[in-house]
Amino acid sequence: MEKYIINGGKKLSGEIAVAGAKNMALKVFPAAILCSEPCLLKNVPEIEDVQRLIELMTDLGAKITHNTKGEYLVSAKGINKTQLKPDLVKNLRASIMLAGPILARFGEVTLAHPGGCMIGQRPIDLFIEGFQKMGALMEENGETYTLRTKKLKGADIILPRVSVTVTENLMMAATLAEGVTTIKNAAMEPEIVALAEFLNQQGAKIKGVGTPDIIIEGVKELRGGEATIIPDRIECGTFIIMGLMTKSQLKITDCEPRHIENLLYSLDKAGAKLEVGKDYIITHPSNLKGVDIVTHEYPGFPTDLQAPFTVLMTQANGLSLIHETIFPGRLFYTDILNQLGANIIMCDPHRVVVMGPTKLYAKKLTSPDLRAGMALILAAMVAEGTSSIENIYQINRGYENIVTKLQQIGADIKQISE
Ligand code: EPU
Repeated sequence: MEKYIINGGKKLSGEIAVAGAKNMALKVFPAAILCSEPCLLKNVPEIEDVQRLIELMTDLGAKITHNTKGEYLVSAKGINKTQLKPDLVKNLRASIMLAGPILARFGEVTLAHPGGCMIGQRPIDLFIEGFQKMGALMEENGETYTLRTKKLKGADIILPRVSVTVTENLMMAATLAEGVTTIKNAAMEPEIVALAEFLNQQGAKIKGVGTPDIIIEGVKELRGGEATIIPDRIECGTFIIMGLMTKSQLKITDCEPRHIENLLYSLDKAGAKLEVGKDYIITHPSNLKGVDIVTHEYPGFPTDLQAPFTVLMTQANGLSLIHETIFPGRLFYTDILNQLGANIIMCDPHRVVVMGPTKLYAKKLTSPDLRAGMALILAAMVAEGTSSIENIYQINRGYENIVTKLQQIGADIKQISE
């Protein structure tokens, strides 16, 4: 079994580069299914989730060539199946991203309920509802769903709640639908804007992206195209927090600070000394005080940075109320932080109060999910002693080459197999 071994208490220094955004990469590969010409994808993070998606698409008949690090050529011309392999789907929540493009191009898609992070119940009702509004009929067969239509039709869709992957899926499907689709209460994440730019470059007609009202005029077909994945704002935020937690001067490069304004606001309130450039951020040792956060859809405080921020608050002076509004079950890792010495009280499944600062002590740990797993790495980096973290697949799902990257800035971390 593979695990990380981390000796806490090391200061970090130097530079760390941010990889391409996982949550954009996992959408542009499926977007390539909308056309039969090849698409070139650049700055793709080399992470497990992307590999799983490539396996799924290859199984469908797509040809995906790994040109060089971070660069893939995707040709969906040879796709000859519309049924996603159930065992692969169960390992990857983002497999749902294939549903819209396959349905739009081939008029049929079959998939099992997708897996992924265990962060509470993650329903797919809004995807189904959206596709049905666009004229697809759904058939449920035990654990699988089949959606079918001769041709998707434009529709007026209002999302009862803001959802990133539902917005992206319906937007992609609508590019090839007959007529105009409007999506109201759409998500506004930067990855969605970048995805729409890619689709428009392929010949789609999408307007209003980055606002809650997206309008898509369907076209007959899309051409091939080229996309460069934008920097991962979650990884960027995690590295900033890492620099601050370890009281280090750390330069985070290749990033887009304007995509993490809400985090920067909260860090400023907490007293963090940061130098923010156009595409870099430098952390300086800071005495932090507790601040409250409420997670919210973009441009609010990202739920994916909630766990790293909570760990940071265990090292800040005073109280912080952490309110997780997006996913129930995304605060349960705080129990593990308490076992390390943190003082966190859970008010209800959506809120915890962190009382800091507390000294943390090393322990044998297991990563519960991707972001909480990363939060445990952060905790282990400031804990006294040697920690081990198991179930690291969960972390490798979303962070590229993390051990080497952290070693290069002075962290005492290694991966061993037992
Ligand atoms: N929801 C429904 N019905 C649906 C779909 C979603 O009720 O059919 C609910 C969810 O249960 C949740 C809320 O809507 O309570 C919002 O979740 P959303 O659908 O926006 O999440 P997602 O699209 O499944 C993406 C990211 C997540 C990130 C969230 C929120 C991808 C592949 N995943 O998930 O990323 O946390 O948006 O920003 O883009 C991660 O990277 O660790 C991760 C989990």
